[in-house]
Amino acid sequence: MGLNLTYNDGQTPLDEDEKEGLLIKSISTKGELDEFEQQNIEDAIQWTLTRKFKTDKILSESFIQQLHIRMYSSVWKWAGEYRKTNKNIGVDKSEIPVALKSLIDDAAYWLENNVYEPDEFAIRFKHRLVSIHCFPNGNGRHSRMIADIIIEKIYQLPTFSWGAASLSVDMDIRAQYLKAIRKADKGCVGSPFLVHHKSRIIYHYNSISSTGCK
Ligand SMILES: Nc1ncnc2c1ncn2[C@@H]1O[C@H](COP(=O)(O)OP(=O)(O)OP(=O)(O)O)[C@@H](O)[C@H]1O
Ligand SMILES: [Mg+2]
Repeated sequence: MGLNLTYNDGQTPLDEDEKEGLLIKSISTKGELDEFEQQNIEDAIQWTLTRKFKTDKILSESFIQQLHIRMYSSVWKWAGEYRKTNKNIGVDKSEIPVALKSLIDDAAYWLENNVYEPDEFAIRFKHRLVSIHCFPNGNGRHSRMIADIIIEKIYQLPTFSWGAASLSVDMDIRAQYLKAIRKADKGCVGSPFLVHHKSRIIYHYNSISSTGCK
C-alpha cells in the first residue's frame, strides 16, 4: 500500500501487516499520519478532561487498552490490540499480558506502601509500560498520556510538560527524552530520569547526571 514512513530516533517501525490496519486510506506520508493521529489524541485528551477515574481503574489492563483505543481508533484498526510481532524494543509478544500484569501488581504495591513520590511513581510506571511496548505503534505517546493521567487523576498534580505528541516534533527535547529513557533502561530512574518532567529542568541534565547514573 502507499504509506511511506520515515522514522525519528527511538520510534518503532511498523511492519507491512500493521500498515494494512490504516483506516484512512488517503494518508500517504508520515506528516499526514502524525496529523490524523494528533487529532485522534486530542479527542482522547478531551475525553479524559471531563472525567474522574478511580485509581484502580487507571492502573488496570482494561484501562491501558481502552486509552490506546481512545487515542488511535480513528486511524488504526488494531488500536488497543496487543502487538503480534516482535520489535527492537519491548518484551517478546507472547509475554505482553504477563509483563503488564506484573507492572500493575507492582504499582498497586508501590501505592499501598507509599514507595515513591508522585512524580517518580508516574515516571516509573510510564517507563515500564513503554518498555513492555504493548502495541504496534503509539506506545510512547500512550505512555506519556498515562503518566499525565496518573499525576492528574491520582495525585491531583499538574500534568507533565511533554505534551501528548510534541516530542515527535521538537528534536532537541526528544533527544533529551531518549537520553533519559536509555539511562532508565540501565536502572537510573532517579533524578536524572525526572529531568524531562518539566522542560525548564531538562537543560540541567548534565549537572544532575553527577548523581551516579552516568
Ligand atoms: N530504549 C528504550 N527503552 C524504552 N523505551 C524506549 C526506548 N527507545 C524508545 N522508547 C520509547 O518508545 C517510543 C516509541 O515507540 P512507538 O513508536 O510505539 O511510540 P509513538 O508514540 O508512535 O512514538 P513517539 O513517542 O516517538 O511519538 C518512544 O517515544 C520512547 O518513549
Ligand atoms: Mg511510532
